[in-house]
Amino acid sequence: MNVRDSEHIIAELKEKENYELTQDIGEADLILINTCSVREKPVHKLFSEVGAFEKAKKAGAKIGVCGCTASHLGSEIFKKAPYVDFVLGARNISKITTAVNTPKFVSTDINYDESDYAFGEFRGSPFKSYINISIGCDKKCTYCIVPHTRGDEISIPMSLILSEAKKAADSGAKEIFLLGQNVNNYGKRFSNAHEKVDFSDLLVRLSEIDGVERIRFTSPHPLHMDDKFLEVFSKNPKICKSMHMPLQSGNTKVLREMKRGYTKEWFLDRALKLRSLAPDVSISTDIIVAFPGESDDEFADTMDVIEKVRFEQIFSFKYSPRPLTKAAEFGNQIPENVASARLTHLQNRHNEILDEIVKAQNGKIFDVYFEELRANGGVAGRSFNNFLVQVQGSEELLGKTLKVKVDNPKRMVLYGNLA
Ligand code: 5AD
Ligand code: SF4
Repeated sequence: MNVRDSEHIIAELKEKENYELTQDIGEADLILINTCSVREKPVHKLFSEVGAFEKAKKAGAKIGVCGCTASHLGSEIFKKAPYVDFVLGARNISKITTAVNTPKFVSTDINYDESDYAFGEFRGSPFKSYINISIGCDKKCTYCIVPHTRGDEISIPMSLILSEAKKAADSGAKEIFLLGQNVNNYGKRFSNAHEKVDFSDLLVRLSEIDGVERIRFTSPHPLHMDDKFLEVFSKNPKICKSMHMPLQSGNTKVLREMKRGYTKEWFLDRALKLRSLAPDVSISTDIIVAFPGESDDEFADTMDVIEKVRFEQIFSFKYSPRPLTKAAEFGNQIPENVASARLTHLQNRHNEILDEIVKAQNGKIFDVYFEELRANGGVAGRSFNNFLVQVQGSEELLGKTLKVKVDNPKRMVLYGNLA
């Protein structure tokens, strides 16, 4: 989502203020940092990074702080880093042109409605197009700062999404990647009158666009994975067979304290139904270990779900108390050494599972959409079910979808040859 926000900012500055991108910090007239605040570590990094920018920048160059940390710290950022010129929250990026022209501009309003703002055109990759389908999140999970930095959820009008997808397809991007905090809640609230649609309807409409060959999205919420959604996901031939299912915890009591809205059994039922409807699907997840009060037995439930679902990919984190969140006030915060031990245990076991999954890919043939030149001379792309696959080759493969036979599968990359 931050990548897409950065693309929107770049588009606005190029089209309305005549800026051009540079990677040379000494040449830049404006240095922007787009921040995350979901865990504490990136917030600390912000201040060391802007300090380094201040030293490296040319005289008179401006520094702007954007994104979720901008939303939650606001003008506090000037106190710690007085050389910062403006602060623009994650829900206020349409004001970037005002920000660059107004000394000490601060805008962090989380009620601000950007849902039907038509941003300019800029994409980092010609091969795929990120498209926002909603802003904000209504869920208020007790550990999560996002609803406090991105505000309540508003869906973007379907006509805007369809026209962005058409434009992307016309320019040759075969893949669209839909973005939202909670994509399968799409259609719950629009800021203006709108026909009744849900996420499954949106997926079907997008799949009818000529030139759109692959549709991906993130993140769906396990609670909203109803049968209609799983059916559309599994049957529609343009929807990539890779699902992110953020588990967070495998224990029903912990899930209740996190306010996730589902039980261990519901999650397992949905994941296993998905595997039976779409046997090639790869499922990824997010897991938080050592949520306040999590006992060894409760953590064992998380491990049990890992054994049963055998996720193709896991993003795992130690719980990090965040300002403005309910869980930060809970008693029973778990000691650091226990949290680290749980994280290591989970990651080690998952690596074993992953090694088995990866080994089983040997000899398989995948349709790979090539989109990236690799530093070691290869060309890489994603299989329909989201494995990163690499072959020897050059630019001429980019933008093509070709069959690859895997003969050397590794954890991060499946190596193979054009079939
Ligand atoms: N501590 C640790 N991990 C967190 N996440 C969100 N908030 C926290 C927190 N306070 C994780 C969740 C989420 C992912 C984007 O970041 O797993 O799905
Ligand atoms: Fe945060 Fe929960 Fe919303 Fe995801 S669904 S952004 S974890 S509040």
